Amino acid sequence: MASAAANAVTVEGLSKTYNGTVRAVQNVSFDVRPGEAFGFLGPNGAGKTTTVSMLTGGLAPTAGHAVVDGIDVFRDPHAIKRRIGLVFQESTADSDLTGRENLELAAALFGVPRASTKQRVDSLLERMQIGDAADRLAKTYSGGMRRRLELAVGIIHAPRVLFLDEPTLGLDPQGRAGFWRYVQELRKENGMTVFVTTHYLDEADTICERIAIIDHGHLVAIGTPSELKDRLGGDVVSVRATRTGPEVEAVLRGLPGVVSVTKYDDSYRVKAPRGEELIPTLVEACTRAGVGLAGISLKRPSLDEVFLEFTGREYREDEGMTATDRALRVGQVQQAFGRSRR
Ligand SMILES: Nc1ncnc2c1ncn2[C@@H]1O[C@H](COP(=O)(O)OP(=O)(O)O)[C@@H](O)[C@H]1O
Ligand SMILES: [Mg+2]
Repeated sequence: MASAAANAVTVEGLSKTYNGTVRAVQNVSFDVRPGEAFGFLGPNGAGKTTTVSMLTGGLAPTAGHAVVDGIDVFRDPHAIKRRIGLVFQESTADSDLTGRENLELAAALFGVPRASTKQRVDSLLERMQIGDAADRLAKTYSGGMRRRLELAVGIIHAPRVLFLDEPTLGLDPQGRAGFWRYVQELRKENGMTVFVTTHYLDEADTICERIAIIDHGHLVAIGTPSELKDRLGGDVVSVRATRTGPEVEAVLRGLPGVVSVTKYDDSYRVKAPRGEELIPTLVEACTRAGVGLAGISLKRPSLDEVFLEFTGREYREDEGMTATDRALRVGQVQQAFGRSRR
């Protein structure tokens, strides 16, 4: 294993059992490299929020170790809270404060020096395009504006590691794209590491350099999106021939690099690691064998197929949250902001 100090996040044998019975996270280990965008994917109830809560000092684990930005999370949860940035799925901005007040409050909470608070607040307000609404109550904000405000709150103290728990849930595609644009800019500027949970597979595919798939508390796969897709046997070349039969199938199976050939309706699905390289060879071989071709298409596997492969189940997007999820989150929010509300 690489040394813990070299990683932004190192997790070893992390487990959480609620009430002695609900095994939410089971013996999970992984590393996140500095500056990386690391996606933590899984369906509702998989254990994502539980993991984030443990890594951000909000929840004690049942077993395991975690080091975040060089700090032992479970030995020093308070240091972790000050050090990292955290954006929840549920709103953490105070509706009865203005955008500016929310940011000033967060700056004070995270110990941003007074002298630099105003400049940082102003620059974030502008950056997140909240400028015009800065002095309006947050409850008047649109969903997208609120998320941008929450992102600003999460990074006001310039954290080196930012945790995002389903940050774009409920946003429209435009809002999602906008949110990620800001995150990507921030990463580019200060090399911030991003740990994001999401159940939008396409989002993880575009944003994350590496992803881990968690299912029923178990880590079932980890790698770059393309590594994971390659493990499926790569691309699917769909071939529609003018006739079908064992000879046609034999020609396709005999091509270099072909992993499998399955007949589907009147076409063949040919799996190969590099579909685009297979196509010319395939056309040539078919011509030589006298097999006419009516159509060829190339499909790259998506993370949906990766998920299916590693869990044996179709990926379902479930927008709902469980009651326990909600209760846990409310607890975390109170913990994070409670002190300032007296
Ligand atoms: N405070 C809690 N008490 C008991 N069970 C919980 C609690 N929080 C979460 N769980 C359960 O742990 C499992 C993982 O939940 P969670 O980490 O919220 O998953 P995800 O964020 O991936 O949807 C689920 O079965 C959930 O019902
Ligand atoms: Mg969750």
